[in-house]
Amino acid sequence: MEFSGQTVVVTGAASGIGLATARSFAAEGAHVIVADIARDKGEEAAARLRADGGKADFVPLDVASDDSIAAFAQTAFAIGDVAVLANVAGYGKGQPFVENTMDFWGRVVDINLMGPIKLTRALLDPMISRRSGKIVNVASDAGRNGSSGETVYSGAKGGLIAFSKGLAREMARYAINVNCICPGPTETPMLMALPEAHLDAFRRAIPFHRFARPDEIADAILFLASDRASYITGQTLSVSGGLTMF
Ligand SMILES: NC(=O)c1ccc[n+]([C@@H]2O[C@H](COP(=O)([O-])OP(=O)(O)OC[C@H]3O[C@@H](n4cnc5c(N)ncnc54)[C@H](O)[C@@H]3O)[C@@H](O)[C@H]2O)c1
Repeated sequence: MEFSGQTVVVTGAASGIGLATARSFAAEGAHVIVADIARDKGEEAAARLRADGGKADFVPLDVASDDSIAAFAQTAFAIGDVAVLANVAGYGKGQPFVENTMDFWGRVVDINLMGPIKLTRALLDPMISRRSGKIVNVASDAGRNGSSGETVYSGAKGGLIAFSKGLAREMARYAINVNCICPGPTETPMLMALPEAHLDAFRRAIPFHRFARPDEIADAILFLASDRASYITGQTLSVSGGLTMF
């Protein structure tokens, strides 16, 4: 199994793409740290992975809280050497920019951009000391192309893409790979919360005329976290059924 003996942190692992990613890592032998703000769903996800024969622990994490990140890092280090960090947790809702409140902007930026930056910083030093590690950030095609009704989210995800490239350059000397996955519309609670008209427009525009399954995004995350991607860093991979072709 590709990730046997490795400790892997997956944020947002209680739902959607994060849950599918945690499941795939566990199936490949990783000890998965299921990190999420949603305690009940996170506990349930970890229990399900263990019931399926995997190794998993739920550790609560709010990526928008500095105290929570510090406590999480301590617990994660006690569980094992974190070989892979998959920053999957995210937040957004469709709404015209001119109707957004400043509180909403703050939350979007804190969860989608500052959260991954801060968690990466908290988990990075041991990767630098060991001179190995894989960081996979889940951004969005909104961050490459813009998305109407998701303007500040697009800005936060664009920031995450640029952050990943800068970090990839700085971390290359320590043999740490940093890459981004940009999912297209993917069948998860976050997507299904968008207005039906928005969903219809997406379905028509996607060359495959269907949304991604969360496990299809997980496959790309696992690839970039694996040794098969040892010479890939600073890249942004859209997994979008051809909706975007960069
Ligand atoms: N679903 C899509 O169509 C789509 C498209 C492009 C990008 N994305 C990105 O993929 C990632 C996963 O999205 P999803 O569709 O699976 O969403 P989801 O809503 O199903 O899951 C998101 C998870 O993140 C967790 N979370 C939210 N705020 C958090 C916080 N402050 N701290 C820790 N955990 C928190 C939630 O509890 C939830 O379990 C996100 O970064 C999202 O922006 C999704």
